[in-house]
Amino acid sequence: MLALENPILKALGLKGPLILSPLAGGPSTPELISAVSNAGGLGSLGLAYEAPEQIVQIIQKTRSLTSKPIAVNLFVPAKTPELSADQINLAIEATKKYREELGVPTPKIDPPYALDFDLQFEAMLSQKPEVFSFTFGLLSSDYIQECRKNRIITCGTATTLEEGLQAQESGIDWLVAQGIEAGGHRGIFSSTEEDPGIGLFPLVRSLVHNLKIPVIAAGGIMDGAGIVAVLALGASAAQLGTAFLLCEEAGTSKPYREALVSKNRKTKTTRVFSGRIARGLENRFMKEMETRQILPFPAQNAFTRDIRKRSAELGKSDFLSLWSGQGIELIREMKAGELVAVLFEELKTATYRVS
Ligand SMILES: Cc1cc2nc3c(=O)[nH]c(=O)nc-3n(C[C@H](O)[C@H](O)[C@H](O)COP(=O)(O)O)c2cc1C
Repeated sequence: MLALENPILKALGLKGPLILSPLAGGPSTPELISAVSNAGGLGSLGLAYEAPEQIVQIIQKTRSLTSKPIAVNLFVPAKTPELSADQINLAIEATKKYREELGVPTPKIDPPYALDFDLQFEAMLSQKPEVFSFTFGLLSSDYIQECRKNRIITCGTATTLEEGLQAQESGIDWLVAQGIEAGGHRGIFSSTEEDPGIGLFPLVRSLVHNLKIPVIAAGGIMDGAGIVAVLALGASAAQLGTAFLLCEEAGTSKPYREALVSKNRKTKTTRVFSGRIARGLENRFMKEMETRQILPFPAQNAFTRDIRKRSAELGKSDFLSLWSGQGIELIREMKAGELVAVLFEELKTATYRVS
């Protein structure tokens, strides 16, 4: 596809139709994002768990490493759930043995369970990234207009055609189509409904067919052939996350890296870490907690944070959220700039035969 025909390449002057997923919770570093942007892709900073001052600092650090376009990603704010005493007691009981094993005290379960979105948004806006992407639903037009005034491209996330139509209606510029194969949190608008579970192929096709805005395909794409496949489906770019988790520049912890290359790795979706559905490598916490009390998002996320943190400090992957997509068998370990170059090379040479 010619650069001029592709709205995403044209808007940002990218070398190829490749976006690095925002990878909140550790892997997302200024070094990783700048390496991808410097190599001609679009690096996305996953800053949903960062306080406003950190957001400013991290973006400035990234800007010092690249003069190329970058994206910043946040989570659409969730309603603060009201928890009953029963829910709280059961949640404490469900995790008691893990806290004993890890030597961490039971934390207080007090709202708010997430950072103030408006302050995060202001911090992002003050740094004017070229692209602002978000997940978990819609943002009201005030936010979209504010971005537009500042020449920031807005990009939402959808997991169904219905969500995609609503997202387009909200006035965003681009849309990520996130298939069930994807690693990390599912972008489903509702945090409580069942997973619609739609695969990337039918999702991209139905969105491209029904929407006017450019669609970016995400979920299980690991190489140039995968990128070519989603371009053939009509996507304007591919967004890859898992493929970059082993890059030297990624902030992926040691036990997480070990799990990503372990034998018998298996991905599953779960709510046990945050209360929202997410795909990751199955581990002990995922298996044992599946039938226990799980608080609604984002309370469960705040409640399990100490367990995950201590698990990482001890070098144990048993209690970590090991986000990974279904493409894990194709993961490669190389520097991020090299991986982008390899992907672009594969993209050039990927062909198919019909007879
Ligand atoms: C470790 C990890 C963290 C993620 N964090 C975010 C995030 O902060 N915001 C977001 O919109 N998507 C996030 N995602 C989902 C990605 O946007 C994207 O849908 C996914 O990486 C695509 O699937 P793949 O990992 O199989 O390439 C994350 C994915 C992973 C693997």
